[in-house]
Amino acid sequence: MSRRLERCFSLDDFESEALRLLPRFIHGFISGGCETEAGVRDNRAAFAEYAFVPRALVGVPNRIQRVTRFGHEYAAPFGIAPMGAAALCGYRADIAMARAAEAARIPMILSASSLIALEEVRRENPTGWYQAYIPGDAARIEPLLERVRAVGYETIVVTADVPVDANRENNLRNDFRLPVVVTPRIIRDCALHPNWVFGTLLRTLSRHGVPHFENMDAVRGPPVFSKNLRRDAAKRDELSWEHIALIRRRWSGKLIVKGILSREDARLARETGVDGIILSNHGGRQLDGAIAPFRVLPEIVADSGDMPVMMDSGIRRGTDILKALALGARFVFIGRPVLFAAALAGEAGVSRAITLMKAEVDRDLALLGLRDIARIGPDYVRRI
Ligand code: FNR
Repeated sequence: MSRRLERCFSLDDFESEALRLLPRFIHGFISGGCETEAGVRDNRAAFAEYAFVPRALVGVPNRIQRVTRFGHEYAAPFGIAPMGAAALCGYRADIAMARAAEAARIPMILSASSLIALEEVRRENPTGWYQAYIPGDAARIEPLLERVRAVGYETIVVTADVPVDANRENNLRNDFRLPVVVTPRIIRDCALHPNWVFGTLLRTLSRHGVPHFENMDAVRGPPVFSKNLRRDAAKRDELSWEHIALIRRRWSGKLIVKGILSREDARLARETGVDGIILSNHGGRQLDGAIAPFRVLPEIVADSGDMPVMMDSGIRRGTDILKALALGARFVFIGRPVLFAAALAGEAGVSRAITLMKAEVDRDLALLGLRDIARIGPDYVRRI
C-alpha cells in the first residue's frame, strides 16, 4: 500500500491526502458545491442532529451487514454514487471504481458524464448500474436505452435535479469548465501539480487519446478539450414525469429516479411505477440551499409504501449510514470521498475506502447492540 494510502483512516482523509496531489481546479470540481455551499454544510449538519440509543448486553457475534436489494445481494448497505468526468480527476477512475466495487460486491453507478465508454466499464463491473442524463426528447430516449440495454445493464438511474447547469462559482474562479479550456491559470495550476499532470493527464492522453463524453447519448459525445463545443444538455430542462413514464414503458429492468426531495415527487415516482428513488441534493451541487435529504427521509419513507427509498449527500461515516437506515433508507450512496480515493491511488484507493467504511459499519453495529443490519429501526436513534 502506498504511504499516502496508509495515512487514510477515514473517508475524509482521502481528500486531505488528495489535496496535495490535485490541481486546485480538479480539487475544487470534486469538493465544491454551488453558490454559498449551504447544501454541502447542511448535508453534514443534518446527521449531527440525531444521536444513537444503543442496546447493551444483547450478544453481537458474527454481525451481518449484507443486504438484498432489487434482487441482488450486496456485501454492504452502501454503493458508489455516479460522478461525471471522474477520469479527469484520477487515471481511468471509472475503471478503478468499477473494479473495486465489483470485488467488494457493492453497486457502482456509472455517470452519464463519464469519459470511458460504458461498454468498457461494464466489462469490469457486470453488476453496476447506469445513470442517465435524459433530454426531454422522446426521440433521443429510445436509442440511449437500447445502447444501455445491449451491454446488459439491468438498472438505470435517471437523475432528476439537473434541468440546467448549476452555478458553481469555485469552478469559474479556478477557470475550470467542461469542456476544458486551457487558460494561463490552468497552466500555472498544472505546473504546481506535476504528479497529476504525469500520472493522470499525460498518461491518459498518451494511452487513450483525448477523452470524450462517452455515455450521454446513444453515440459518442464531444471531447473534453474544446473551445466551442458544449456538452449536449439540450432539452434537459424539458424533462418531466411524462418522460419517466415513457422510460418505464420502454425499460423492463429496474428504474430508479435520483434527486428527489419532496414528498409529492416521491408519490409521483411511485405512481409512475419506478422501482426506487434516491433522495439527493446532488451533494449540495445543484440548488443552493436545497434541503439535506436526511431531513426529509422520514416523511418520504412514511409515504412511500414498499417503494425502496435510498439516499446520498454527505455520507462520510458508518454512523451516517446507520442513522439513515434507522430512519428507513434502504440503501445509501457515497460520492466525493470515493473519487478522491480513486484519484489518490486508483483501484487500491477505492478498495481501501470501501474497506474502511465496511469496518465502521461492522463496529458500529456491535456498539449499537445489533447483530443484523436488517433489524435497525427508529428506536435506535433520537433527535437531539
Ligand atoms: C457528482 N454527482 C453526479 N450525480 C449524477 O447523477 N450524475 C453525475 O454525473 C454526477 N457527477 C458528479 C461529479 C462529481 C465530481 C461529484 C462530487 C458529484 C452527484 C453524486 O452522484 C452524488 O449525488 C453526490 O456526490 C453525493 O454527495 P457526497 O457523498 O459527495 O456528499
